[in-house]
Amino acid sequence: MSKIKFQRPKGTNDFLKEDFYFFDIIFNTFKRIVEFYNFSRIETPILEDANLFLKGVGRVTDICDKEMYCLKTKGGDILALRPEGTSPVCRAYLENGLKEWPQPVRLWYFGPFFRYERPQAGRYRQFWQGGVEIINGEDPGLEIEILQIFFNFLKELKIKNTIVEINSIGCSSCQGKYKKVLNRYLKSYEKEICENCKLRRKENILRVLDCKEEKCQSIIKNAAQIIDFLCPECKSHFTAFLEMLDHLNYPYSFNPFLVRGLDYYTRTIFEIFEERKESEGGQEKKMALISGGRYDNLIHTLGGEKTPAVGAAFGLERLLEILKREKLFLPKEEKISVFLVLLGNVAKIKILKLMEELYREKIKFFSGMGKDSLKAQLKLADKLKVDYCLIIGQKEALEGKVLIRKMKEGSQILVKMEKVIEELKKR
Ligand code: HAM
Repeated sequence: MSKIKFQRPKGTNDFLKEDFYFFDIIFNTFKRIVEFYNFSRIETPILEDANLFLKGVGRVTDICDKEMYCLKTKGGDILALRPEGTSPVCRAYLENGLKEWPQPVRLWYFGPFFRYERPQAGRYRQFWQGGVEIINGEDPGLEIEILQIFFNFLKELKIKNTIVEINSIGCSSCQGKYKKVLNRYLKSYEKEICENCKLRRKENILRVLDCKEEKCQSIIKNAAQIIDFLCPECKSHFTAFLEMLDHLNYPYSFNPFLVRGLDYYTRTIFEIFEERKESEGGQEKKMALISGGRYDNLIHTLGGEKTPAVGAAFGLERLLEILKREKLFLPKEEKISVFLVLLGNVAKIKILKLMEELYREKIKFFSGMGKDSLKAQLKLADKLKVDYCLIIGQKEALEGKVLIRKMKEGSQILVKMEKVIEELKKR
């Protein structure tokens, strides 16, 4: 037996027939909703200047520090396979003069993204994201608009057991004050926190709040909360957001230690998780399905004027896994009316011509081309539950005729080749 020489790269997926049934449901639902909300589509390149992400997402983030796929072009440029979509959309906003469009600009995108992560359940190295961004708007109602879009999205995908976690991480001035206090607190636990957090404390201290290690969690639990350090403007933004969120009637929980793995966020951040137990009595697991928030400084960081903005993105594979697992949509077998049975070379040419005609008339067929024996072809026709077989053997081919066999009854008639379509339509 021959041995397969290649495997797909670790952390990537092949999407096959059934996957695309769910893939299309997710994509079409998302597209329908965002277009209803008047978002316009944008597709940015898969390759971008690596510096875009170093500046936008932040040099000292896992995404840029460890997970970016970079390559050097022959011209010497360093490009990166995009790890996320917000920075490229902001780059495009500036580069294409979208400031001239009616503001705020509402954009949506969908495509593959790449992160060199440790593969695990729901975590891939190539994954698909769909996202929305509202650029140049400061109103907290815009956060609500985005949440409303994603609540509708999850509802239409029939996904239950979800919860939104929200927090505000303020502006750079609130963060400056908070980071100092947090640093003092964590320093007193320097010996107890994990090695990773020791580094994070020095390089990107807010990320400590996101540590999953139990010993760090118990220390973080008693740390000061950023919410108590918000300046009056950030506080009133968050209060207004909460008041509006209460009207949406969607379960949410305030998580004072929620932070995000990307440095560009300011003020409101949120994540929608699926909560479920793997087994009866098992531990509750949380998987982030949709994540986002406000990023009021990003465009300025990329060279534009100060332009407040907000957005969010979902991970397609995670939703696809839920749709499959929960059997929320059942693939329908598409009805094929006609099976083409052929025997011999002359028949092959006649069948190819017939295929053209059937296509033109939009009569769905399945051809037996590639299968030699009559028995194998009829067996497949049976399996596909077709209504009719059109059989062209050596004899029929030479006489320019086709045998139409009604599968249910096993009855058959011989008709002239040019009358086949007419005969099928009659039935
Ligand atoms: P993110 O949290 O890094 O945010 O990713 C958004 C979503 O993509 C996650 O909630 C998750 O569902 C999915 N995702 C992330 N990484 C993976 C992975 N390795 N494998 C499978 N799915 C994954 C962003 O990327 C921001 N750009 C979102 C945003 C848009 N913020 C504002 N606008």
